[in-house]
Amino acid sequence: MIDQTMNREQLIEKRIKDSETHVFKAVFPGTTNHHNTMFGGSVLYIMDEIAFMTATRFSRKTIVTVSSDKIDFKYPIPAGTLVELIGTVIRVGKTSLDVQVDVFIESMYRDGRDKAISGTFTLVAINENKRPVPVLDEIANN
Ligand SMILES: CC(C)(COP(=O)(O)OP(=O)(O)OC[C@H]1O[C@@H](n2cnc3c(N)ncnc32)[C@H](O)[C@@H]1OP(=O)(O)O)[C@@H](O)C(=O)NCCC(=O)NCCS
Repeated sequence: MIDQTMNREQLIEKRIKDSETHVFKAVFPGTTNHHNTMFGGSVLYIMDEIAFMTATRFSRKTIVTVSSDKIDFKYPIPAGTLVELIGTVIRVGKTSLDVQVDVFIESMYRDGRDKAISGTFTLVAINENKRPVPVLDEIANN
């Protein structure tokens, strides 16, 4: 029993580590608003995309987003900066999992960066009939 639990935990821990997803984007005019900062909808789009990539790399199954938690836009993201998005699986359920996405702002011309936005997305693994299936076959019966 303990060994099974250990194996499940170890498997999940390894897949979480291996599926952590880092993506950089340059904030160019196509994604900004009339204040010359990144448009909120553009940020949400790429955050959901990173959550999707992270969940897919974790489970290697067909994934859809079912929910997102409150997302605070703490700092504006100016045009002409770089952003790094980091997706990390923070909860593994039976057919669903949660991915936290952190967004960091980085100047193009000096070192250092600040966390601007953080949000959590819930995603579900589905089969060809679009019904939920276990996110990992190895833990399906636990
Ligand atoms: C995802 C979907 C198949 C789930 O169907 P469902 O009938 O709600 O399925 P279930 O009730 O069996 O729930 C499945 C899992 O999702 C979780 N879930 C369902 N709705 C949720 C919600 N609003 N928030 C958080 N988790 C939710 C359940 O807790 C369950 O997790 P678990 O198996 O880890 O315990 C269905 O809601 C759907 O197709 N949604 C549209 C998805 C979509 O088009 N997304 C945008 C494009 S990617």
